[in-house]
Amino acid sequence: MTAGPAARAAAPATEPLPAALPAPVPAIELRDVTRSFPGPPEVQALKGVSLSVADGDYVSVTGPSGSGKSTMLNILGLLDRPTVGEYRLGGVLTGSLDEDERAAVRAGHLGFVFQAFHLMPRRSVLENVLLPMLYNGTPRAEREPRAREALERVGLRHRIDFLPGALSGGERQRVAVARAVASRPRVLLADEPTGNLDQATSAGIMTLFEELHTGGLTLVVITHDGDVARRASRRVRLADGRVSEAG
Ligand SMILES: Nc1ncnc2c1ncn2[C@@H]1O[C@H](COP(=O)(O)OP(=O)(O)O)[C@@H](O)[C@H]1O
Ligand SMILES: [Mg+2]
Repeated sequence: MTAGPAARAAAPATEPLPAALPAPVPAIELRDVTRSFPGPPEVQALKGVSLSVADGDYVSVTGPSGSGKSTMLNILGLLDRPTVGEYRLGGVLTGSLDEDERAAVRAGHLGFVFQAFHLMPRRSVLENVLLPMLYNGTPRAEREPRAREALERVGLRHRIDFLPGALSGGERQRVAVARAVASRPRVLLADEPTGNLDQATSAGIMTLFEELHTGGLTLVVITHDGDVARRASRRVRLADGRVSEAG
């Protein structure tokens, strides 16, 4: 005999709740993070910052020069540590990881894009995208296909054998984005990615970020450019080391 809906609703909860319904773990979670630089004078670049970024979200962080944007990105990228407070990445408390573990998480789960593209000048576009995959555990046979796929995704298939010096600024930044996403990170962290680009070229990089976001990547983009910031689905503002949510 099958119980009707009413009987089911009234039935005592004899079965445990399904394990498949845990609360979603944020991709990134800062809790009361302060970062002090000893000085003298001591500078508190971040002051009790709490920030939670949902998996798959696209967040921009704006704020004036010196407000703590790069300090925050360095902490999110495991390039620096909070002086006080906690940082969880994918639910994992990063403070207890040793340097090797942090490097492994960085290489395997995080992608970085900086204002200065940091490409190797004597290596081809393809080699630049391949190089990080030599060290981050990407299986050998998958490296080149992934590099080519990433370059295709950023619209640079026709430039794979070029040296960076032969590319425009926008193209160089596309190579940097391809390099950052080729190993399929969970989170892409960008610090002033359009700082060296003109408006039209910068719009192209923003479109690329939107495509990556649509593809499920979590993005945190630091910028002082309001136009760039408005393209994100969520905007956070930093002022004097403190965060607030912008409209
Ligand atoms: N390594 C450091 N040593 C001392 N002070 C620093 C260091 N890095 C950043 N700061 C200071 O922390 C504050 C925030 O810097 P930063 O995060 O680079 O700001 P933003 O990226 O928003 O311009 C500034 O006052 C800066 O001078
Ligand atoms: Mg900065």
